[in-house]
Amino acid sequence: MASKFQAPRGTFDILPEAARARRRLERAAAEVFGRAGYEPIATPAFEDTDLFERGVGKSTDIVRKEMFTFEDKGGRSLTLRPEGTASVCRAYLEHGMQKLAQPVKLHYLGPFFRHERPQAGRYRQFHQLGVECIGTDSPLADAEVIMLLADLLGELGVPGVELRLGSLGSFEARRAYLEDLKAHLHAHEGDLSRDVRERIDINPLRAFDADDEGTRGVMASAPTIVERLEGEDAEHFAAVRALLDGAGVAYVIDPTLVRGLDYYTRTIFSFVCDRLGAQSEIGGGGRYDGLIEQLGGAPTPAVGFAAGIERILLALDEEVAGEGRDAFVAVTEPDQRQRAMALAVQLRRAGLSAELDLAGRSLKSQLKHANRIGARRVLILEADGSAQLREMDSGEQRAVDPGNLVDEMTGGEA
Ligand code: HAM
Repeated sequence: MASKFQAPRGTFDILPEAARARRRLERAAAEVFGRAGYEPIATPAFEDTDLFERGVGKSTDIVRKEMFTFEDKGGRSLTLRPEGTASVCRAYLEHGMQKLAQPVKLHYLGPFFRHERPQAGRYRQFHQLGVECIGTDSPLADAEVIMLLADLLGELGVPGVELRLGSLGSFEARRAYLEDLKAHLHAHEGDLSRDVRERIDINPLRAFDADDEGTRGVMASAPTIVERLEGEDAEHFAAVRALLDGAGVAYVIDPTLVRGLDYYTRTIFSFVCDRLGAQSEIGGGGRYDGLIEQLGGAPTPAVGFAAGIERILLALDEEVAGEGRDAFVAVTEPDQRQRAMALAVQLRRAGLSAELDLAGRSLKSQLKHANRIGARRVLILEADGSAQLREMDSGEQRAVDPGNLVDEMTGGEA
């Protein structure tokens, strides 16, 4: 009888094949971030609720309606982390990392939790990988983190990616701008959707995200902050752009770019992918110069991003789904099994992925099984001590020197 239990809504099991694809991705990320000197950090899956209320912001959708919040047995309010930046900043302060050489450069990955309406690419438990560069306001840091994500997506071969770039200016500039934006929205209240109208004074920036025609018409003539950047904010944005131009990173300036978290100042960015449907943002982030102060530390500028692991995998489609094996060692007769095992072990020691039949299958079903697990090459050990090498793609088969099988396999792989 089928089990009556299912994974909770918006969650999923990661079965072995998917786990392999993830591991490849996680290794690539650790490699790309590590080469730039970003060190790994891990923080707990839950934190004091107050950390996210203060860090992410009370007016955001995340805090207003998406947090998994519960009371523990001691009556404390805890929340499953909806994002990683507030936690990493909490850890930075808790462990006195402001005393280290700045900036402190960290990367992380793990599960995050948001009570959203599930759909393709949107889950209640999802996984992010992210980096935070804390302790410098240099535009070099903005450009560096943007390039880290661009490089990772490039290295993985994610197709159809576009980088969108915007700037929110400093908190003060943003505050003045928001007043003007609210005035614009109030002046056209009649044309706005109900949802936008109700949130004019809570979160006017979200109006840029609306997809109803009325609101879009109003937003087409709305002031944008990018066109009003002044002084150091304008210089900072120009410097980030110049660095990306110099490095040959393509982007589009999006004056209507908004992000669902309150802590951003100055640079914001978003990598979208045209293979992804409605949830098209693969990753994004920006500068958050006020957050650490907001959490009780000294003013400390910082910048970072997070990308959704499931969305990267979806964008890659089958390209990561069938990772396969380098080799499968098959036998024509049962008495060759010991030899097959010794050979598989040697191949593994030489760094290849290799399997052999553990279930006593006939040669025909061994080949079928090799195909099922995605083996690229099958070594067939014959009873007389000879060996055949079969290329699974072409079906081509040839005799190989049985005394030299490991070299044959590793040499052929290079
Ligand atoms: P975020 O834009 O809220 O930013 O999330 C980053 C990425 O996580 C998104 O681009 C998306 O790929 C993925 N994501 C978010 N929600 C879901 C979901 N429900 N299901 C699947 N994937 C999802 C942040 O979290 C910031 N902490 C990023 C940051 C780091 N800013 C500065 N430093």
